[in-house]
Amino acid sequence: MIYVSPSLLAADFANLREEIDDVKAAGADWLHYDVMDGHFVPNISMGIPVLESVRKATDMFLDVHLMITEPLRYAKRFCSAGADLVNVHVEAAGEAEIHRTLAEVKEAGKLCGVTLKPATPAEAATPFLDEVDLILVMTVEPGFGGQHFMEDQLEKVRQIRKMIDQTGRQVRLEVDGGIDAKTAPLCLKAGADTLVAGSAVFRAADRKAAVHSIRGINS
Ligand code: DX5
Ligand code: ZN
Repeated sequence: MIYVSPSLLAADFANLREEIDDVKAAGADWLHYDVMDGHFVPNISMGIPVLESVRKATDMFLDVHLMITEPLRYAKRFCSAGADLVNVHVEAAGEAEIHRTLAEVKEAGKLCGVTLKPATPAEAATPFLDEVDLILVMTVEPGFGGQHFMEDQLEKVRQIRKMIDQTGRQVRLEVDGGIDAKTAPLCLKAGADTLVAGSAVFRAADRKAAVHSIRGINS
């Protein structure tokens, strides 16, 4: 089943509750929550207190994308704040620390994932294949919404699809960055099943139509 996960980064931050209710009514499956620390990426977004408020405002599944250094230090706190899934960049720490971070997320009863930047090869996900519930392939350089989709990442999506299938495990394959009605079908064809879309949903005049066209069903 294909999931669409609108990225809250493109929402009107002064009206978060309305924005969330609106994308839920538009048919979104998950809500993607981007955390940027100004170190791992050259931008700062929202963190733990905002996540707590979002958690109280909605029952939507919260897909938290940590673009931060020291993920081990903070992952548990994002779990307590209301994340349903915590995604950690493989480039953010050494392999042992990423394993430990994923274990802590699982111990907290949440789903866990690893994320790969565009320059990171598919093989970087191999050590985590038996632990994760999701692998996220970035289709833009992380840090900002509204960027152009990097078509050269499709090969990595295909490779990871194969790697996941070989495990026989249920692991979601998510793409994030520049996803819209034109690029989503390319990702789905390459094997993705979870589509993050910020601008293409929140900035659309008709959000319901946007969610449907990204998913590939005409509304
Ligand atoms: C970028 C973030 C994305 C971003 C996507 O670093 O991880 O989730 O919000 O925005 P769009 O869909 O506008 O490219
Ligand atoms: Zn993201």
